[in-house]
Amino acid sequence: MSKPLVLLTHPLPEAWIAALEDKVRLVVGEEGFASFSPQLEAYLPEAAGILSLLTAKVDKELLVRAPHLRVVSNMAVGVDNVDVVACTKQRIPVGHTPDVLTDATADLTMAILLSAARRLPESARDAKEGRWGTWSPTGWLGADLRGAQLGIIGMGKIGQAVAERAHGFGIRLAYTNPAKIESDAAHLPLEELLKTSDFVSLHCPLKESTRGLIGEKELKMMKKTAILVNAARGPVVDSDALLCALKEGWIASAALDVTDPEPLPASNPLYDLPNCLIVPHIGSATHGARRRMAEIACENLLAGLAGEKLPHCFNSEIYA
Ligand code: DGY
Repeated sequence: MSKPLVLLTHPLPEAWIAALEDKVRLVVGEEGFASFSPQLEAYLPEAAGILSLLTAKVDKELLVRAPHLRVVSNMAVGVDNVDVVACTKQRIPVGHTPDVLTDATADLTMAILLSAARRLPESARDAKEGRWGTWSPTGWLGADLRGAQLGIIGMGKIGQAVAERAHGFGIRLAYTNPAKIESDAAHLPLEELLKTSDFVSLHCPLKESTRGLIGEKELKMMKKTAILVNAARGPVVDSDALLCALKEGWIASAALDVTDPEPLPASNPLYDLPNCLIVPHIGSATHGARRRMAEIACENLLAGLAGEKLPHCFNSEIYA
């Protein structure tokens, strides 16, 4: 029997996808394409499986061009790049990679939060560029952590892992979530969380209800001394409003692991602001996390091809 054809949207280290060897006919997209390369698209009519990265758009139009598709396996916990509703209608399981990136993403969140709070990018640049005159009692003053309030928007696994770390710094915790969870943190409505928090950290998934969740109105509610951290998805924050907020001092600073769009072009004015720290979506970028994400994506893919239930299925209602 011929092996099923699988499209891998971007090259991955061989060791990470060793499980696919001998089991599938793999066609790999070229480096440098955010989504499907034209060379890869040509194989859609024959594809039985797709192993996608979070930048690859798997939408309705693409599904029409892939009539034999049996599984979409996304190497990410978020699946906002996939039209899950369309996949569900066609009973195509969508795999994702929860849990294995929780610690890495929570660590990175704390790293950029601390970096912004203690003004590391600005002070490091000043030291390097000769503006370190003498030890200055009033120079590069940052935010105190102990006793400050961190408001977490989206208290899922990553939000809770951030809370656990922040607790170790003596930070008080509040959160906004559709459902109350078992936690010592205060469960607050969004408005109250924004008004009372010294740091606000976003960890909700991107969906219609969270797109633009933090816009002008919300940024104006925040404390002028507040720091906004986004480790969720760029479009959860209105970028134009954020630019005004940072320029005009509605809030003190922002630390962004994700932006809208991605990649954020080097000409984007947010880069010019001393109070905006931007890193290129590296929340899960540790050796261990990325390798496990790829391995789980392979497990999901192989299960889908075999007609078995995916170990980590986002639309598991298709099995009901
Ligand atoms: C995910 O898996 O959704 C993360 O954003 C990757 O870093």
